[in-house]
Amino acid sequence: MDNRHQNDAGSRPRTEAGKVTSDTVRDHFNEIPSILYYTRAAHFLGLWKSERLMIERFLPDPSTRIVEAGCGAGRVAVALWRMGYRRLSAFDFASELLDQARSLAREQGAEAIAFACADATRVEPTEVGLGAGERFGGALFMFNGLMQIPGRENRRLALSRIGSLCAPGAPFLFTTHDRDRSHDDGDYWKAERERWNRGLQNPRLREFGDRHFNDESGKVFIHIPDRTEILEDLASSGWAPVADTMRSELVLEPPAVAEFSDDCRFWVARRGA
Ligand SMILES: C[S@@+](CC[C@H](N)C(=O)[O-])C[C@H]1O[C@@H](n2cnc3c(N)ncnc32)[C@H](O)[C@@H]1O
Repeated sequence: MDNRHQNDAGSRPRTEAGKVTSDTVRDHFNEIPSILYYTRAAHFLGLWKSERLMIERFLPDPSTRIVEAGCGAGRVAVALWRMGYRRLSAFDFASELLDQARSLAREQGAEAIAFACADATRVEPTEVGLGAGERFGGALFMFNGLMQIPGRENRRLALSRIGSLCAPGAPFLFTTHDRDRSHDDGDYWKAERERWNRGLQNPRLREFGDRHFNDESGKVFIHIPDRTEILEDLASSGWAPVADTMRSELVLEPPAVAEFSDDCRFWVARRGA
């Protein structure tokens, strides 16, 4: 996500008086530019250094049963398999990306990963292979996928649903951008605040912090939160924050990763009892 892109993605208005909805976002991810972008990343980029470090730190036991939300074309799930994790479920609501994930898993001998088509805001335990009383020991929602859910109430729903899939104490790793750490010193957000104050914001956006633009990955909707917002959302959905650090403070990523994704904040939370 690059803050230089400020144009509206220009797709047709959907329900809720033309606001971006989860259908809009799913359609974007099922379009060819997005499929190519995430499939290429799954095949050729793999795990970021920072992701590997956080996974090894917070999910060190490869026998842990893990669920990945928003798995896309399988970049993280297949990399976890290659690291020795064998009890993996991964879901996404974009069926075209899931087809790519299944195909990559087959190619890598990882067809035992349980992929499912499901929406994080209403995912049920049975959809991700849980039997009665079973829970995951860890969850992931990488590369800012949680922030691609339009509407704060829906992001909170997703946090709760993912929590309901996890055992007490299970870690949840996810990333977001951070509005207070933008690389233009906040100039974009100052101007955007002014637009919202005057009612001149893009009418498709729901909340201050939302972005809708085109880039090399196709049409993108993303919410850029500040840190307080995420802490409040975790508290409201049964997660206790454990750690949060900007990627740039964790490791120096190779240029390929830095080009693929701007700096972001890694979050770790634990499921309450
Ligand atoms: C930025 S992509 C990341 C894909 C993959 N995790 C990766 O890192 O390459 C975000 C993913 O989240 C998925 N996603 C967004 N909202 C979702 C929702 N409500 N339920 C399930 N998946 C969702 C998208 O379809 C997309 O595949």
